[in-house]
Amino acid sequence: PKGKEAAIYDLYQQAAKLYHHMLVNTQAGDAALNYLTGRGLGRDLIDTFNLGYAPTNELLLPYFQEKGIEYTVLRDSALFIEDDEGQLHDRFTNRVLFPIRNMAGQVVAFSGRRMANDDSPKYINSPESAIFKKSRELFNLDLAKQMIRKSKTVFLFEGYMDVLAAYTTGLPNGVASMGTSLTPEQVGILTRFAETLIIAYDDDEAGQKATARAIKLVQAHSNKLAIKVVRLAEKLDPDEYLKKYGATALQNALQHSLETPLTFMRKYLRNNYNLANEAEKLAYIEAILKVIAQSPNQIERQIQVNELATEFAIKATTLEQQLSHFEQEPQN
Ligand code: UTP
Ligand code: MN
Ligand code: MN
Ligand code: MN
Ligand code: MN
Repeated sequence: PKGKEAAIYDLYQQAAKLYHHMLVNTQAGDAALNYLTGRGLGRDLIDTFNLGYAPTNELLLPYFQEKGIEYTVLRDSALFIEDDEGQLHDRFTNRVLFPIRNMAGQVVAFSGRRMANDDSPKYINSPESAIFKKSRELFNLDLAKQMIRKSKTVFLFEGYMDVLAAYTTGLPNGVASMGTSLTPEQVGILTRFAETLIIAYDDDEAGQKATARAIKLVQAHSNKLAIKVVRLAEKLDPDEYLKKYGATALQNALQHSLETPLTFMRKYLRNNYNLANEAEKLAYIEAILKVIAQSPNQIERQIQVNELATEFAIKATTLEQQLSHFEQEPQN
């Protein structure tokens, strides 16, 4: 029912405020504040993103119970974990918190990062709830959307810290898919705001795999969104790159170290095929043709086919024939 949803939105808003207060105003939050400062986040940024701290002892449960919030509302909010006896407990304890806001700017979830390098999960996330559908949200879209519209460009990152890193270098038009695979709904939303999508996932193996997947997904679901891929180096993510090389270097990389999807895919696929082997070479060429087939521009496709023909000493007409099969195939 509508009433409960409104009540849950209200809980998240209050929780975010309380967590932020714990971080910036209390002694219990000192270690968390030091952690964030140590990662290069200034007070302005902490306030802008309303970062918080969930203390070691339960915070929300006593607070909301005191206010007389109904058990069912608390239970359905997903802010708590229910134990075997049906007793609720704060989901987040002793973690730095990133509030996840929907496009309208309402807090709908939290992600909590561990501060120590222990063997607990690095991030713990709110599960889905009446107000949080993971596949539809992109971290920071509410703050970024104005600048995305203006620049017609959106940066897509893996993580919160990467969005914040870009923000500090003067690029506020970044969002994050929060480590999960990009979804068709998210592509649909981005297509409404942007003409160009710059994928800036981590430069490690997982990030490259996710990039290849994202390219295919965008090409299958949007013929309006042009794609570029950022190449960082040394398996770094944008936040690590900032730390190592500085703000100007990161800004430069995000704006200028760009590859076309085809160039990216050629390099990416090349690592997966042994081109000295004739059968694998054929498989590689076929995989590349599949990418070329998704290019929306006829002239661009022709140029790419010609390049491929030269590189592998194959007649362009042969490649074109093969390409036409892939152009007709539905993508998945
Ligand atoms: P990464 O492992 O690249 O983390 O996962 P990160 O963003 O670089 O985090 P920091 O810099 O170490 O703090 C990318 C994203 O995947 C999600 C988070 O959204 C994270 O930002 N993730 C990662 C999880 O949800 N849970 C995890 O345990 C790890
Ligand atoms: Mn504040
Ligand atoms: Mn990663
Ligand atoms: Mn990362
Ligand atoms: Mn990182």
